[in-house]
Amino acid sequence: MTEVRIALMGAGLIGREHAALVAEHPGASLAAIADPDPAAVALAATLGVRHFDDYECMLDEVAPDGVIVALPNTLHVEAGLACITRQISVLVEKPVAETVTAAMRLVEAGEEAGVPVLVGHQRRHGSDIREAKAAISRGDLGRIVAINGVAAVAKHDTYFDVAWRRSPGGGPLLINAIHDIDCFRFLGGEIETVQAIGSSAIRGHAVEDTVAVALRFASGAVGTYLLTDASPSPYFWEIAAEQSLTFPHQAEDCYVVFGRKASLAVPTLDLWEHEAGGDWRDPLVRRRLSAPVQSCYVAQLENLIDVIHGTADPVVSGREGAMTLAATLAVARAITEGRPVDVAELLA
Ligand SMILES: NC(=O)c1ccc[n+]([C@@H]2O[C@H](COP(=O)([O-])OP(=O)(O)OC[C@H]3O[C@@H](n4cnc5c(N)ncnc54)[C@H](O)[C@@H]3O)[C@@H](O)[C@H]2O)c1
Repeated sequence: MTEVRIALMGAGLIGREHAALVAEHPGASLAAIADPDPAAVALAATLGVRHFDDYECMLDEVAPDGVIVALPNTLHVEAGLACITRQISVLVEKPVAETVTAAMRLVEAGEEAGVPVLVGHQRRHGSDIREAKAAISRGDLGRIVAINGVAAVAKHDTYFDVAWRRSPGGGPLLINAIHDIDCFRFLGGEIETVQAIGSSAIRGHAVEDTVAVALRFASGAVGTYLLTDASPSPYFWEIAAEQSLTFPHQAEDCYVVFGRKASLAVPTLDLWEHEAGGDWRDPLVRRRLSAPVQSCYVAQLENLIDVIHGTADPVVSGREGAMTLAATLAVARAITEGRPVDVAELLA
């Protein structure tokens, strides 16, 4: 198959990673970079691609086959719409938008124009998450009873020197928890209601540093989730699943999916069940499911390439990204208003 030409909007922290992955992939080439920052000019020169200050000019002059949007959250929707208008498939970083209403504008425009919109929830491309989903679909766990998840890391003090990271919306809920919530939806089905308590007692910022969440899934399953960016631990998916672009790997689990027949720890994929389908009176046996680690970022890029070729559907569509955003914002609302919140409220 021919190489697809992918352009990048926003060459900051994650955009640079996307640029490198596209440039290295045999099935793709980096077509151009749009980002007015001088560091992006230098990056484009290093990678030998055209640089633009304005992403609309880039789209018109370069006419790429696909685009990756790695801009600040509030710019995602306009950038995505600029691609859709030009019939260009687009991978938008998470969160797909800053509000569910804005997200739905993008989703509906893509669906009406027949242009694929993908969202950067890269964990769904992780081999452990895919194998966990396959085990659930095969019925290895039986009916899902509950899901437990933890995301705990200690962010360094200077990380908070940037004002937006200390303000509502800039905390670990929309930066980190949105990825966990996306995995919970993928593994456990739609989330119906959330209750949550937030705390900023550790740093005293306006933004949360620690959150405890109770979840009810549409299936009747329930879940618990603990999030903090103020405590060192290996219980954080990128670290535990060997998928971090920065942090060293520590083989631990951060999720457990409890089913009627078996429970499954993720990412180690240890599946626990009673011998001969028995109950608590019978010995427990552990079976480790196998899923060789492959970079979830590379797999995500390969999905974009296949979507551009028309040989695959998006693994995480714009609509999926919007539903994950709605569930995450429901947690934020539950904290602020001190009451259980139905995700449907966010979608109304
Ligand atoms: N999937 C992940 O794990 C992951 C990780 C980090 C960030 N993200 C998401 O990626 C997005 C970018 O985050 P980041 O940390 O890289 O931010 P960043 O601030 O490091 O980079 C954003 C870049 O966009 C550029 N930019 C701003 N306005 C622009 C415009 N109008 N046109 C072109 N370029 C413009 C800035 O100059 C900057 O270089 C955010 O939505 C964030 O949530 C996702």
